Amino acid sequence: MEIISNIKEIQTRCLNARAVGQIIAFVPTMGFLHEGHLSLLREGRKRGDLLVLSIFVNPTQFGQGEDLDAYPRDFERDERLARECGVDLIFYPDAESIYPPGYATYVSVEGPLTTSLEGACRPTHFRGVTTVVTKLLTIVMPHVALFGRKDFQQLAVIRRMTKDLNLPGEIVGLPIVREDDGLAMSSRNVYLSDDGRNDSLALVETLRQAAEMAQDGELASEKILSSARQRLNAGGTLSIDYVKLCNAHTLEEVATIDHNTVMLLAVKVGKTRLIDNGPLLG
Ligand code: PAJ
Repeated sequence: MEIISNIKEIQTRCLNARAVGQIIAFVPTMGFLHEGHLSLLREGRKRGDLLVLSIFVNPTQFGQGEDLDAYPRDFERDERLARECGVDLIFYPDAESIYPPGYATYVSVEGPLTTSLEGACRPTHFRGVTTVVTKLLTIVMPHVALFGRKDFQQLAVIRRMTKDLNLPGEIVGLPIVREDDGLAMSSRNVYLSDDGRNDSLALVETLRQAAEMAQDGELASEKILSSARQRLNAGGTLSIDYVKLCNAHTLEEVATIDHNTVMLLAVKVGKTRLIDNGPLLG
């Protein structure tokens, strides 16, 4: 396994791999790897000849007052886990090489896809994500790039962007990996106190309750959402950023649910912000 920080070097390495007919599979991350990330790497290993992992805590997707400086990092551990998953190349750039002095180019997907849900709570977030993902995709030029459905809206935005910009390569979305008790894995879970960890189970329980209601025949969004809010508020410790029922492709809110409906939620547990989502009739 090679670790490359220099952009020219990784670009050359990937171009050469392409030139000899290798399939490049790419998993972009911000590091502090967990089973969610590893599931993407294992799938990437199956799909590609050259498996590239990027680790970059991207400053432009963090808003003012968000956790950029506190974001957990452990490169040595990430390196060991990457090796165990059969990663060939880790791209590990520093912020100055991705955003050198004078940097002035940003990619934004416009409209409700980026202004709703996460975009409403974190107005500059997706511009940072789409900018860095475009840069990473043009540096690595993968045949396939793998993303998790944990960040459901991010995946939808990236699909829109790659389509709109005619970026080559397939975007693959993979299922959410959860802890045994159902909490969606996230690098940010380390911020949770013992009590917070316990309270955070309300997210997955809310998703389960909503799916049960739907399977029992309740199709009215407002009824399902009102039970969801009740469940989330029951412990009195969570603060809801949003809980919505949306079309899985457009992310537009729906009044009546169907097989394409997904529940998306974002909640603060103390200072920690958690997101989760799940299908209703899937
Ligand atoms: P990060 O939060 O490190 O996540 C990297 C990838 O892992 C994303 O595609 C995310 O959806 C996926 N992932 C995270 N938790 C998961 C889980 N529990 N199950 C399945 N997949 C999971 O998302 C980012 O980084 C950044 O925004 C990035 C795309 C790298 C751009 O900076």
